[in-house]
Amino acid sequence: MDKDQLKRAVANAAVEYSLTRIDNDSVVGIGTGSTANFFIDAIAAHRHKFSGTVASSSASEQRLKGLGVPVFELNSVAEITLYVDGADEINPQLQLIKGGGAALTREKIVAAVAREFVCIADQSKWVEHLGKFPLPVEVIPMARSYVARELFKLGGDPVWRHGVVTDNGNVIIDVHDLCPIAADGSLERAVNQITGVVTNGLFAIKPATTVLLSTRSGIQTYIS
Ligand code: A5P
Repeated sequence: MDKDQLKRAVANAAVEYSLTRIDNDSVVGIGTGSTANFFIDAIAAHRHKFSGTVASSSASEQRLKGLGVPVFELNSVAEITLYVDGADEINPQLQLIKGGGAALTREKIVAAVAREFVCIADQSKWVEHLGKFPLPVEVIPMARSYVARELFKLGGDPVWRHGVVTDNGNVIIDVHDLCPIAADGSLERAVNQITGVVTNGLFAIKPATTVLLSTRSGIQTYIS
């Protein structure tokens, strides 16, 4: 099985799982990235079984609408039953690094609202310690250099992701050399304390509820 087959398999498993959790009134949170795209394509066939979706990026919103799936503004929604999204790294505590696709802030917001966060990924994303994947940080553009200096003081090597503007009009700094990131949430808090930071891609304080991991021998399920 190649990576795309693994991603498609876990997306299909997530659709089956979602169907056990949702009803006609449910709103489903939809993530961003290649694995989430497989989920969007698969859940679209079941669009009559739930009320609609909230998307974590413009790209996912366009894809959903193109398949005839209703997409709501988050502010018009009281509750998200579950949120399904990929990740860049996952550790055994089900903490994540996200934001490789620059959608981390909206992803964190949708995850905060959702009753359950189901993370879907192929086995290459599973790590013992987070931090080999550079930590994405969304930053207000005028604060970029200041925030980079502060991130350096926290022990990382900050690199501006040239040419990328987020859906919120901000820039991304990727912080290298942080591995191993402590699992106590302290780095997530410290980065968010820097003035000019919108948010960072560590999901340590609020990990995924469930991880479905696609391996060559099948789907493994982890529950926090
Ligand atoms: C988007 O900003 C990210 O958080 C994605 O969820 C993450 O990069 C996983 O993407 P893939 O499914 O494409 O690997």
